[in-house]
Amino acid sequence: MKRVLSIAVVVLMIFSAMNMFAGGQKESAKDGTIVIGANIYSFADNFMNGVMKPELERYAKEKGAKIEIVDSEGQQAKLNDQVDVFITKKVSVLAINLVDPAAAGTIIAKAKAAKIPLILFNKEATEAGAMASYDKVWYVGTNSAESGIIQGQMMVADWKANPSWDKNGDGTVQYVLLKGEPGHPDAEARTRESVKAFVDAGIKVEQLALEADPNWSTQHGNDKMAAWLTSGFGNKIELVICNNDGMAFGAINALKAAKVALPLYGVDALDQALTHIADGEMNGTVLNDGVNQSRATLDLAINAAQGKPVTEGTAWSLTSDGTKAVRVPYLPVTPKNYKEFRK
Ligand code: GAL
Ligand code: CA
Repeated sequence: MKRVLSIAVVVLMIFSAMNMFAGGQKESAKDGTIVIGANIYSFADNFMNGVMKPELERYAKEKGAKIEIVDSEGQQAKLNDQVDVFITKKVSVLAINLVDPAAAGTIIAKAKAAKIPLILFNKEATEAGAMASYDKVWYVGTNSAESGIIQGQMMVADWKANPSWDKNGDGTVQYVLLKGEPGHPDAEARTRESVKAFVDAGIKVEQLALEADPNWSTQHGNDKMAAWLTSGFGNKIELVICNNDGMAFGAINALKAAKVALPLYGVDALDQALTHIADGEMNGTVLNDGVNQSRATLDLAINAAQGKPVTEGTAWSLTSDGTKAVRVPYLPVTPKNYKEFRK
């Protein structure tokens, strides 16, 4: 009897060792390297492709991790399939830039079913309860509202300092606004907060036009600005508010083509924006710190893949508001300080 029992114990031990081995294989490539399955919602996006993607690649290398970054081409259905492929390949961890922020639940459910940790970055989940549905999902991004508040404060200060900007002298800011992706927390918060800054400062505002673009693109900025300039209200525009630099670049092109100069602001602080500020074609932007957002994404991903507390040994901390998020601060970039942001 004793012997039978000890054989049973040995068999059990062998089985659990085999299980551990299988589990261990899932967590990493055969040589122990952490493999990160990542995407960018669209490689056509200036900020995501120009700032975040190169730093994700560089920093992964620095950390000795392997990263595969795929292009979701602005299609959530494509991203869903890409995540399925990553799961089949048994990546150690997923780093996902949602196409549709309202589709977070689908991605989270896939990761949870496969028991793979998930870092969402840049586009915050908008579905209530999505983040709470899995204990191994975290978010890396910003506090969206902060960018609109900073942009708004810059615009209010400049408006007050430049009475000639009120072209018709009615004490009201006649503005046009390039919004970006409807439903994107950044686009929604920037639109709300930048305009609110004027209202809070006791300055009246009149929106002449607002256009959204899911791709935040330069082409869109160019086309809309050109159309606005030749519309019935073209000569009434006093301020151009752009929720990102990519769209701002297009608006600048259209303004130049029409030989019109107007105060114009963006968000992101791309290198080209710093040049436009130097050239006096842009009045300000807001640093969207994609380099640090990329690093935070990978630091959390690597810890999660190793089953460690996600912020352990890193420069980041999770917000205390229960959103399981690391939020990298925004900074104002003006004609006075833009040189500090040049690389
Ligand atoms: C924002 C950024 C935009 C665009 C967007 C994509 O944070 O300001 O330029 O890249 O993310 O989700
Ligand atoms: Ca006015």
